[in-house]
Formats: sequence, structure tokens, C-alpha cells
Amino acid sequence: MLDSSPKAFIAEPSLLRGHRVLITGAARGLGAEFAKAVIDSGARVVLSDVLLEQGQETARSLGERAHFVPVDLLNSQSTQDMVQAAVDWLGGLDAVVNNAAITNSGGVPMQNLSESVWDDVMAVNVKAPWMVSKFALPHLEKSPNARIVNLSSDTALWGAPNLMAYVASKGAIISMTRSMARELGSKGITVNAIAPGLTLVEATQYVPQHRHDHYMNGRAIPRAQYPQDLASTVLFLLSPASGFITGQVIPVNGGFVMN
Ligand SMILES: NC(=O)c1ccc[n+]([C@@H]2O[C@H](COP(=O)([O-])OP(=O)(O)OC[C@H]3O[C@@H](n4cnc5c(N)ncnc54)[C@H](O)[C@@H]3O)[C@@H](O)[C@H]2O)c1
Repeated sequence: MLDSSPKAFIAEPSLLRGHRVLITGAARGLGAEFAKAVIDSGARVVLSDVLLEQGQETARSLGERAHFVPVDLLNSQSTQDMVQAAVDWLGGLDAVVNNAAITNSGGVPMQNLSESVWDDVMAVNVKAPWMVSKFALPHLEKSPNARIVNLSSDTALWGAPNLMAYVASKGAIISMTRSMARELGSKGITVNAIAPGLTLVEATQYVPQHRHDHYMNGRAIPRAQYPQDLASTVLFLLSPASGFITGQVIPVNGGFVMN
């Protein structure tokens, strides 16, 4: 009988001891889970988000190695100020997890997709990870274990319908990851992407049941996907163990799509 949940995820407290990590979009959902896993692995983490109260509350719940910095990633000055505030609090920077995204733009056929939604999705999901990485770069260059982890989506690998702006943005993340990896490898910075399948978080509660069923039935491992399924991959990509892996896209989806 297949387990209905992932094995209990136990962080190794020395894996990322002393590492200084910035995670965007960490007020809730996957970003908040990643922040918890990274802190449990010994790191200090700046969580940033446009959701002010939820971000402050999440950071408070994670203890003294967590700190919240607000940002609106639609605004480049706010983005630059956020990265600087993160570096100031952390005293440097070893890793960036570009996790923030507009995730609720779906359910619209392409002929009904508005230009303003397209522009905002591209700005937050594609331009912002570039800008955050650009502002982080001078600091990452000084780190002996520098990492950029970008969140793509497996919808970019199979082309989910009625989600076109989102899917296109997540495809761009894959190409950007590869290009960044080639530019930054000689500086000692690895750049990889994770392409999750549909995962149970607050934001996906509103996804219709038939889509959850479609994913579940299409997986080689036919169960629901949980944030813990992804947190361990983030930890691996941030850790010294992944030091020679760069420019890769790791689908974490129970085998729904296979590279
Ligand atoms: N949950 C899934 O099923 C799934 C699947 C594939 C990929 N992903 C990716 O994982 C990442 C996290 O997604 P999630 O499921 O936790 O969704 P989510 O919507 O809960 O998280 C996205 C976060 O980004 C923040 N954000 C949005 N616009 C912003 C802005 N202008 N400035 C600053 N922050 C902003 C949101 O406030 C939110 O906290 C996203 O990149 C998403 O595309 C999620």
C-alpha cells in the first residue's frame, strides 16, 4: 500500500551551518517551507515578500535565525533595497532562492488573457529573479559556496493549458538558469532550477479537483505532492554536495514528466 504522505523530513542541523540565504516569496507556501528547512539545517535566512504581516509572522515563527524584509518585486528600486537589507542583516550572502512568483493567473484561455496580467507575470516571475540575482552577485562572488536556485514549474515542461503567461514565465526561468549558469560558473556560483509538480500549499487549494486528480493519476508515484518533497531538493542544491551541478533543471514531481 502506497504511503499517502512523504517520509518525515529530518533536517541535518550542520548541513548549512553558518550559510546566509535569501528566499523570495517566503511569507507562505513553498517559500516558507524552504525557509524552515534551511534554518533547521543551520543557516540564517532572510524571508522576503510583498505580504507584510504574513511575512513578519512567518519569520517570527522561525526564530532568531530568520528575518523578514518586505519587497515589491514589481519595483526595481524596492528589489534593490531588499537585497541590500538582506545582505546587511546576514552580513553577506551565500545563496538566493528565487521562489516568488505570481501563481494565481490561471484558468484563462489565451484569447482572454489580459496584457496587464501577462506583463505582471513576466515582471515578477522572470525579470525579478534576474534583478535579485544581479543585485546579489557582488556578494555571492565573495562566498565559497555560492548558489542560485530558481523555481520553475513542470507545467513549463508539458505545456499546461489556460496558464499561458505562467507557463511561458516558467519556461523562461529554465533558459535563464542555463544562461546564468554559463556566465557565473567561472565565478564559483552554481545556478540550478527546480520544476515542481502541483504541490499542496495554500495557493493551490483553489485548483479544481480534476486537475489535482490529473496530476495524481499521471505520476509514476501516484500520490499527492507535499512541500517536504521539494525542501530536500532545495537543501541539496544549497549544500556543498551539489557543488559540481549547474545549469540543471530538476523536476520534482513523482515522475509526472520525465526529462
Ligand atoms: N505549489 C505548486 O504547486 C507549484 C508548482 C510548480 C511551481 N511552483 C513555484 O513555486 C514557487 C512558490 O509557489 P507557491 O505554490 O508557494 O505559491 P505562493 O503564491 O504561495 O507563493 C508565491 C509568493 O510570491 C509572493 N509574491 C508574488 N508577487 C510578489 C511581488 N510583487 N513581490 C514580492 N513577492 C511577491 C507571494 O506573495 C507569495 O508569497 C513559485 O515560483 C511557483 O511558481 C509551485
